[in-house]
Amino acid sequence: MQSIRCSRTTKMNEDPALYSKHCRRQKLDANHFLDTYFRLLDVKNDAIILDVGSGDGTVTLEALLPRLPNFSKLVVSDVSEKMVQFARGRFNDARIQTVRMNIADNNDSFTGYFDHIFSFYCLDMVPEERTPQAIRNIFEMLKPGGNFFGTLIVDATLYKFCDSMIQDNKWPRAMADFLKVISHYRDSDNPEDKFRFFLENAGFEVQVCKHEKRNFTYVGFKNFLDYALSIFPVPKVSQEERAKFVEDFEDTVRQRNFDDIDNVQFFYSVLVVCASKPGK
Ligand SMILES: C[S@@+](CC[C@H](N)C(=O)[O-])C[C@H]1O[C@@H](n2cnc3c(N)ncnc32)[C@H](O)[C@@H]1O
Repeated sequence: MQSIRCSRTTKMNEDPALYSKHCRRQKLDANHFLDTYFRLLDVKNDAIILDVGSGDGTVTLEALLPRLPNFSKLVVSDVSEKMVQFARGRFNDARIQTVRMNIADNNDSFTGYFDHIFSFYCLDMVPEERTPQAIRNIFEMLKPGGNFFGTLIVDATLYKFCDSMIQDNKWPRAMADFLKVISHYRDSDNPEDKFRFFLENAGFEVQVCKHEKRNFTYVGFKNFLDYALSIFPVPKVSQEERAKFVEDFEDTVRQRNFDDIDNVQFFYSVLVVCASKPGK
């Protein structure tokens, strides 16, 4: 196995079991976008494939794998050791390798190795200043003629709930941590141009770079809360304080969600990207 230097940049909550239970929306999204764009990727038998930021592995297992023809190798990667370990336990196929990899680190492994690189809801967590390196890494790891398919969150209702917490000066430290993992594309007037710029600067030819609005209803506040807790860095506090955090968060959601706490309307928007490395 190749060794990959790894520094820690993400602060997303690292609870793969919780993520696994509450990633139905992420799975639906991956299936939706793959249904729409997979044919553009021209995935052949025997392809070598990388999934970047696979998390608990649900999307890899239930959206990506069923679409792959007879691939020769799939590398499942994440910056979080806990996520990698959890995902490792879910694959039972000698062609699948799990590795810890920070896509934003200086990286000279896997150069020119992959036919296709996928990444779902991970690159939005890479800080803006590390994004050029992350995109260069993806470009360098592809074979000439290979391609990249990715989805990135631009904006989401969850961010607005957190804005309200910040405005009300509730849990400032936890919210400050959260701000470190939210998408920097949110502040852009034109997220498509912003991401296209990173891609073209690295040498990619861009086939698709599209900003789409989506929505999802979390039925039951507890489901929404657990989803939120699977994403944002939960403050390391006592059980009692944690209950207070949850109460404050619930109040905020209730105020912004017109009191229909049992049906949390989650609006969000996504960049969907398909780009190829020139040559053959
Ligand atoms: C929201 S989860 C998405 C997981 C999965 N792809 C999905 O669609 O459900 C984001 C994942 O990206 C990982 N991640 C964040 N920054 C990363 C980086 N710089 N390099 C690799 N993985 C990263 C996180 O650890 C987390 O597991």
